[in-house]
Amino acid sequence: MTRKLFVTTALPYANAPFHIGHMMEYIQADIWVRFQRMVGNEVHFVCADDAHGAPIMIAADKAGKTPQQFVAEIAAGRKQYLDGFHISFDNWHSTDGAENHELAQDIYRALRKQGLIGERNIEQFFDPVKGMFLPDRYIKGDCPRCSAKDQYGDNCEVCGAVYSPTDLKNPYSTLTGATPVLKSSDHYFFQLSAQRCIDFLREWTSKPGRLQPEVLNKIKEWFSVDEQGHVALNDWDISRDSPYFGIEIPDAPGKYFYVWLDAPVGYLASLKNYFAKTGSDFDAFMADPEVEQIHIIGKDIITFHTLFWPAMLHFSGRKVPDHIYVHGFITLGGDKMSKSRGTGISPLKYLELGMNAEWLRYYIAAKLNAKVEDIEFTPDDFVARVNSDLVGKFINIASRAAGFLSKRFDGILASDHAADGTKLLQTLMTQSHEVQRLYEEREFGKALREVMLLADRVNEYVDQNKPWELAKQPGTDARLHEVCSVCIEAFRLLTIYLKPVLPALAREVENYLRVENLSFSDADKLLGKHVIGAYTHLMQRVDPKMLVDLLAAPASAPPAAVEGNGAAEDDPGGEAIAETIAIGDFAKIDLRIAKIVSAEHVEGSDKLLRLTLDVGESKTRNVFSGIKCAYKPEELAGKFTVLVANLAPRKMKFGVSEGMVLAASHADEKTHPGLYILEPWPGATPGLRIR
Ligand code: 2FM
Ligand code: ZN
Repeated sequence: MTRKLFVTTALPYANAPFHIGHMMEYIQADIWVRFQRMVGNEVHFVCADDAHGAPIMIAADKAGKTPQQFVAEIAAGRKQYLDGFHISFDNWHSTDGAENHELAQDIYRALRKQGLIGERNIEQFFDPVKGMFLPDRYIKGDCPRCSAKDQYGDNCEVCGAVYSPTDLKNPYSTLTGATPVLKSSDHYFFQLSAQRCIDFLREWTSKPGRLQPEVLNKIKEWFSVDEQGHVALNDWDISRDSPYFGIEIPDAPGKYFYVWLDAPVGYLASLKNYFAKTGSDFDAFMADPEVEQIHIIGKDIITFHTLFWPAMLHFSGRKVPDHIYVHGFITLGGDKMSKSRGTGISPLKYLELGMNAEWLRYYIAAKLNAKVEDIEFTPDDFVARVNSDLVGKFINIASRAAGFLSKRFDGILASDHAADGTKLLQTLMTQSHEVQRLYEEREFGKALREVMLLADRVNEYVDQNKPWELAKQPGTDARLHEVCSVCIEAFRLLTIYLKPVLPALAREVENYLRVENLSFSDADKLLGKHVIGAYTHLMQRVDPKMLVDLLAAPASAPPAAVEGNGAAEDDPGGEAIAETIAIGDFAKIDLRIAKIVSAEHVEGSDKLLRLTLDVGESKTRNVFSGIKCAYKPEELAGKFTVLVANLAPRKMKFGVSEGMVLAASHADEKTHPGLYILEPWPGATPGLRIR
């Protein structure tokens, strides 16, 4: 039976170009969707820009643009990424589209009719200069517990205290520097803590197979009840006061939906927009009980999708999601990849370097499973998987057989195979169901392992039969013909199995084999006597140097916006001196003398050393530092150095780093290698501040 699937990824905020995390999500969703299409299911795969909210409004304002202009410019940049990585969305829309305004307001009205919208007067910080209520992230001040300066409104990154913005000492607005004032206003709440909501969510979340077990585990705590009988899930504040870039709340002038209220509605809006273009009936589709609604999202937005969104849909009388598939993050271990140094992976740079998008698709797929696990991007592993597996095992099969077939047999495949060839092809065909099962279950890594094991079998067959020797011996033409034909039959089957991951390559193979649009049903049969086209090499190996370029920090200074500010050849250390700062800016950085108590290698990292530092506190600090290329651990123990002591602790793959050790290096490390940590003159003791 044909399934009807409505699939989305999360909607990205329209405030920045895509990063590698977005591409990872789109690639994995795209693989699943392409697989579903290849087994004959009806799929509608849509996405949109998440356009609303205070941060986008503020960013637009800073850029001197209207929010609409701002998000339109971001939206205009999406296509190059989506096309570049072969992401096959059927539609791309915006949560600021008319459909979303209408749908979000309809859903709200229905919830209100259900008696699930409450109104409450709340007090919040207000920026008197900007004339707006301040979201927590735009309020800073001194920590109420340890008095650390410039802490965010909800927690202290120095002592770890958790509080509300109104607890901060000397609070200020990061937008204007003004002291915020407390001001009250009426807010609307979706009453999620109502018993009927809790009852519905308990039932919806516990349907077997709907959520991954670890997701269910994580959200279960929201249904727990305390001694007073209160459930942990609170009512949800869904309104924001003007000025706000969002959707107006019906019958409430000056009030807008909080961005997270209308964002998931954007899934429906994008589908509706798409159906309008294709002449399909959106309402009929959404009313069809056979339709499966599936959202593929990251682990940071679970509660919105497993609590708020299904409740919104259910109590507004709409279809609820059938599955929420949650994935982990793509991590770029070690500080080499740190964003602050600009050394993450830029998807656009990847393409600009001429790297094949399908290498990344294959690599990501090879590391993915159906669990909520992070995947680590490791350059060596990337090179190995692409070169040894994808090219070395798979592409190689075609290149080993293609030349003989075209030169000696006019590109005509032999349909009769001896027992060994028949057996091999039979094995490959039989595994089709297992490969399909693994794709269906989103066990892409396992699916690709299965395919590579099959490729190994084919290569063994080639090694046993040695076509290059058959070609030289007299009287073995028929065997050569047969062996090469078996290889190409096998290559076609493997191409089918890899097609969800490698759609562009599969298209080239289809051209080469002169076959049309391969699908999984084509794996039940062989080509037999069939004329194929001329072979041209299908995929290059990755040059490891490309990875070095990909991960290198961007050029030290961007082209100068102000004359004389760009990096010139004679700039000291290869970069122009940074913009002038006030003494107050410098004072924010708390530099301390630290004694290196011990230093050790970090297993699994070729860049980092783990330093244990004495900074004159009651306990030592653990700091990861990317200095392995320059120092041996035993050289460092006992030395004194300089630590940025008030840097927010950073969770890394190997543990938490509690500060940063300073080191000097040239802007272009490739042409000017060398890294030097700082050492104070004798006499300095741990904890002394550098000012
Ligand atoms: O976290 C984010 O990037 C949000 N823009 C995701 C929204 S998903 C959906 F609800 F729109
Ligand atoms: Zn504190």
